[in-house]
Amino acid sequence: MYNDNPTINNLSNKEIDETRQGEALVLPDGAQANGKKFYIESYGCAMNFSDSEIVASILAKEGYSSSTQYKDADLILINTCSIREKAEKNVRQRLRVFDKSKDKKPGVLVGVLGCMAERLKKKFLEEEKLVDMVVGPDAYRDLPKLIKEADDGGKGVNVFLSREETYADISPVRLGSNGVNAFVSITRGCDNMCSFCVVPFTRGRERSRDPFSIIAEAQDLVNKGYREVTLLGQNVDSYKWSNPETGERVTFAKLLEMTAEVDPRLRVRFSTSHPKDLNNDVLYAIKKYHNICNYIHLPVQSGNSRILKLMNRTYDREWYLERIDKIYEVIPDCTISSDIIAGFCSETEEEHQDTLSIIEYSKYIMSYMFKYSERPGTVAAKKYADDIPEEVKARRLAEIVDLQQEMSHRSNLKDLGKTYEVLIEGDSKKSKDDFKGRNTHNKMLIFPKQEGLKPGDYVYVKVNEVNSATLIGEIVKVHESFNA
Ligand code: SAH
Ligand code: SF4
Ligand code: F3S
Repeated sequence: MYNDNPTINNLSNKEIDETRQGEALVLPDGAQANGKKFYIESYGCAMNFSDSEIVASILAKEGYSSSTQYKDADLILINTCSIREKAEKNVRQRLRVFDKSKDKKPGVLVGVLGCMAERLKKKFLEEEKLVDMVVGPDAYRDLPKLIKEADDGGKGVNVFLSREETYADISPVRLGSNGVNAFVSITRGCDNMCSFCVVPFTRGRERSRDPFSIIAEAQDLVNKGYREVTLLGQNVDSYKWSNPETGERVTFAKLLEMTAEVDPRLRVRFSTSHPKDLNNDVLYAIKKYHNICNYIHLPVQSGNSRILKLMNRTYDREWYLERIDKIYEVIPDCTISSDIIAGFCSETEEEHQDTLSIIEYSKYIMSYMFKYSERPGTVAAKKYADDIPEEVKARRLAEIVDLQQEMSHRSNLKDLGKTYEVLIEGDSKKSKDDFKGRNTHNKMLIFPKQEGLKPGDYVYVKVNEVNSATLIGEIVKVHESFNA
């Protein structure tokens, strides 16, 4: 879910352009069309994509319609990521493209949103002449005012980080949507201080969204035909909310159950879990509800306790292994994925071997794998030397990637001959004759279409063939009662 390139669910840039149409932007009640169009491009994690949908909703209220082509737009927005140096480079390159483009509309405004806006603040305006607005992740309600300021020839800047803002009352406009899967933000910000990570600086303090607005959004999605929600936060397990009147508390496990109760046809996923906070109540909730998917994204970062301490992850190797054991004990068929950083400050060969062995032990079905990239202002940048040579980082990363690929393949081989309940998400990338859809384990299946079925329907698919990325199969049964 994290990518330095602009992607939605692993779609390439081109594919996003093709699918970005999504839900037609219907102007909300009371909004007057202003004849203007906005174009938005998103980088980074799912939170950023989810935020772009909030931004779209705010602009729709102002009368804007959306465009899939920046050349048609009166307002170009780029929602940015700061997580690694490469992510920032990509954004700057993209700004160059907008800058040089002769086809863009005269008088077009360009706004930078998101984490890079927050990190660089006003400096952005000095560094990138093209930019008219710099808007941090908690300031999107201010966009109409900032646009006005920029329209009047000024520069609009708001990078205020809030302790309360959750955009709970804003109903997101689903961009680039397939009408089946949707992201729902449940927390914003992060209170952990992993020493390598820029997120606490770009997103501010952690806050949890009112559970009733989350449930209402999930219900609304079901009514519109959606069949899967992914509850989003940097650390979903630390979700906490208490009713100001009754004092009643809602934990993440409780919120999962409440979401699962919305409708048995609605699949519930969540991301990201932090190993220190993933508690047994969450595991029991997954076990109890068929529609809470048996899949956990549990980033380890490193398999070595000394490195984990330097990273300030607040757990060690033993703690992580205990969590893995517990997951497989409570939910034997659960699948697990991870995030891994290669070549963190002072990492030795032996410590790198510990990362390889934890990948094998944990049997990850998939990992997001990165070379350590020093970020200005973080504890690691201030305290530790970024002393692993680039070629060593690259070699360690390649070893991690190779092992992960082997683990993915091994896991997929075990699926041969098995039949899974699959939610149809759309056409397969390769052929319009095939559907694609995922099983509870978050594995993608490809299978020939059958008359009368559409995205959002549930089918049972038998796996006949596998590679390290996908399972290939055929429909053996249709879930009649779910597909009404
Ligand atoms: N909140 C999530 C992760 C958010 S960032 C969690 O705690 O797991 C997504 C991933 O980017 C991280 O898990 C980490 O693997 C990677 N990452 C973050 N900062 C990085 C850096 N400075 N260099 C390389 N990778 C980094
Ligand atoms: Fe960054 Fe750590 Fe927070 Fe994740 S938990 S966003 S890695 S500080
Ligand atoms: Fe990037 Fe910000 Fe997400 S730094 S990973 S877009 S929270």
